[in-house]
Amino acid sequence: MIEVTQLTGTLGAEVSGVDLAQELTTDTAQGIHEAFLEHIVLVFRNQSLLPAAQLAFTRLFGMPIEHPLKSRPGLSEHPEVMVLENRPGKPGARNDFWHSDISHEECPPSVSMLHALEIPTGRGDTQFCSMYAAYEDLSPAMRDMLAGLTALHSGEATARRNNAEASDALPITEVPPPVSHPVVRSHPETGRKALYVNPFFTLRFDDMTDQESAPLLEYLYRHATRPENVYRHRWAVGDVLMWDNRCSMHYAVKDYDQTMPRFLHRTVTAGDRPC
Ligand code: OGA
Ligand code: MN
Repeated sequence: MIEVTQLTGTLGAEVSGVDLAQELTTDTAQGIHEAFLEHIVLVFRNQSLLPAAQLAFTRLFGMPIEHPLKSRPGLSEHPEVMVLENRPGKPGARNDFWHSDISHEECPPSVSMLHALEIPTGRGDTQFCSMYAAYEDLSPAMRDMLAGLTALHSGEATARRNNAEASDALPITEVPPPVSHPVVRSHPETGRKALYVNPFFTLRFDDMTDQESAPLLEYLYRHATRPENVYRHRWAVGDVLMWDNRCSMHYAVKDYDQTMPRFLHRTVTAGDRPC
């Protein structure tokens, strides 16, 4: 029997009583899926997953896919398992900005999963915020206004990061044109509405200038990332953590340097076009 313990008032839950390396019963898989849809971020402690087992667990939530911009190396045997690595002489790429993974794709990934294999003690936390709560906490008039808007998302910022940094990030030569997504999307599984803009990939509202868009976007980002709406995960080796990109943003705290090894395996699943 799995046990699900809520971690904050808005998002995050720890799931215990399951070894993800074993094949899960239908009941357990369904219980995890339901908890995931409810809590947005799930944490499983003390796991030990080989890449094939992480992929098998990931597959319960969708089809594992490689990064469309090939932003970082994958394992040669399992290219859908991306390696996040930081160590001496090999600094990891930064993710210290609020974002929803790869929102610049027409069909961004639905679920992302990290398995921690090495962690600098007490450092390198990851923060998550609920974009359901961010939407629901707006006034009715603001919600109505946002419902009519779409915004442009671009991978340009990832290319800029990868090409500027000495890190494990791979150079990116070609960035596809920006894509337009609704500012408020409906989650395809829960039907709940979530705000869907983020400060890293969102350029501006469609048919508005950068200057016109910036004040409202900045307000929405501040509103979404209030401490009351954030779960901050303190990593331990063995953690498996998964989040729902359709209704959250995340931010990787960069309070470590390249002398402090941090090593995780990352998988993501193919998602739908936001609508
Ligand atoms: C990611 C990401 C956060 C981290 O893999 O998409 O943002 O803490 N990582 O490494
Ligand atoms: Mn990310």
